[in-house]
Amino acid sequence: MALQMSALFSYVRAPLCTVPLPRVCADIQRAGIKFKHIFTPGSPQLGGKPATSPLRGHIHTAPRAEKFSTTTTAAFRWSRQDSGSSSSSPQGRAGWLGRVALGAAFGLSAAVVVQSLHTGTLAAMAQKVNLNSAEGDWKETKDFLLSLSVKDRRQYYRTPKSVPLDNIEVWTPTAAAGSEKSKYPRNEKLDKKISLYSGDITQLEIDAIVNAANNSLLGGGGVDGAIHRTAGPLLKKECASLHGCETGEAKITCAYGLPAKYVIHTVGPIAQGGVGEVQKKDLRSCYRNSLQTATANDARSVAFPCISTGIYGYPPEQAVHEALAIVREYLEEHHDKLDRVIFCVFMPTDRELYLQNLPLYFPAAPTETTVKSKL
Ligand code: APR
Repeated sequence: MALQMSALFSYVRAPLCTVPLPRVCADIQRAGIKFKHIFTPGSPQLGGKPATSPLRGHIHTAPRAEKFSTTTTAAFRWSRQDSGSSSSSPQGRAGWLGRVALGAAFGLSAAVVVQSLHTGTLAAMAQKVNLNSAEGDWKETKDFLLSLSVKDRRQYYRTPKSVPLDNIEVWTPTAAAGSEKSKYPRNEKLDKKISLYSGDITQLEIDAIVNAANNSLLGGGGVDGAIHRTAGPLLKKECASLHGCETGEAKITCAYGLPAKYVIHTVGPIAQGGVGEVQKKDLRSCYRNSLQTATANDARSVAFPCISTGIYGYPPEQAVHEALAIVREYLEEHHDKLDRVIFCVFMPTDRELYLQNLPLYFPAAPTETTVKSKL
């Protein structure tokens, strides 16, 4: 860009520049017209390869970049052909330099135009976003929010408190309570990828939080209600477009007014009548499908509530084993795709359960094990 600016100014103030201003305008016009009718990206006149220019990397819409970079090249070529005189004479040099600057000026203004269009669109969208109203277009709002950095998204949070990932402690392995042997070998790489966090999942500023939803995906009580309340009404609008979710399945949406980027909705088994093989399988599917959905969307930090252990009545002391086993096995297979899996517990009793059972799946010291680690 600096090169382009210096070329531009040299055109304007070069001592040898003998090209009067009206000619400059005509040149710009001619360069543009010449390009429009003769040069197209990749055309034989340009040696068959689409032209590249330093500006190309700065313009996010490739076809326009192609066009403007080709313009610069076209103006460059045209200046060499039309100036007639060799570039060695002062007049030739001024003409040559002038026209390169012309192309650069054209290219530069194009980059500025495209960039300002892009910025203008974002600014216009920022004016329109209203996460408190169900009136907005959820698709447009989702695209806008997902295009923002974490820092820029903070102004849209609908919660007074947000907890950045760096403030969530990594799990420190401890010896298994009692005489129970760990089911897995020690793996320090995996230890660094999990956390036990006590608190409100709607405050976590991470890539994805998992929602313990119901089959309609249209909200409810418990953690489902908390997530929908904080996200705002557009979450329900996007959920409605998903047409429900089967037990054990997982579906992803934007998180809207939540500090997280995404919400992964999963439906746990109802276990008020007791836990059989079906309930166990469904609960494992919730954790596995949520992790698969996260990694499929490049969400590298994921938090789980204690799925099904509230209104759905799954005994927490049984659910904890399904949760830990699936997360350990998934991390063994896909440790490169995840930076952190957070067990977000809301009840003190759940915290005790996880403290007691985490060492069985993420042990502190090397122990004889029944399951060989695949790492
Ligand atoms: N943050 C983290 N965990 C929470 C939060 C919160 N803000 N609120 C509740 N929890 C915990 C509960 O303490 C429980 O351990 O989430 C766990 C799951 O409880 P529920 O939300 O009742 O979910 P579940 O048992 O899976 O029942 C799902 O309840 O809310 C409805 O629409 C939902 O019909 C569905 C059913």
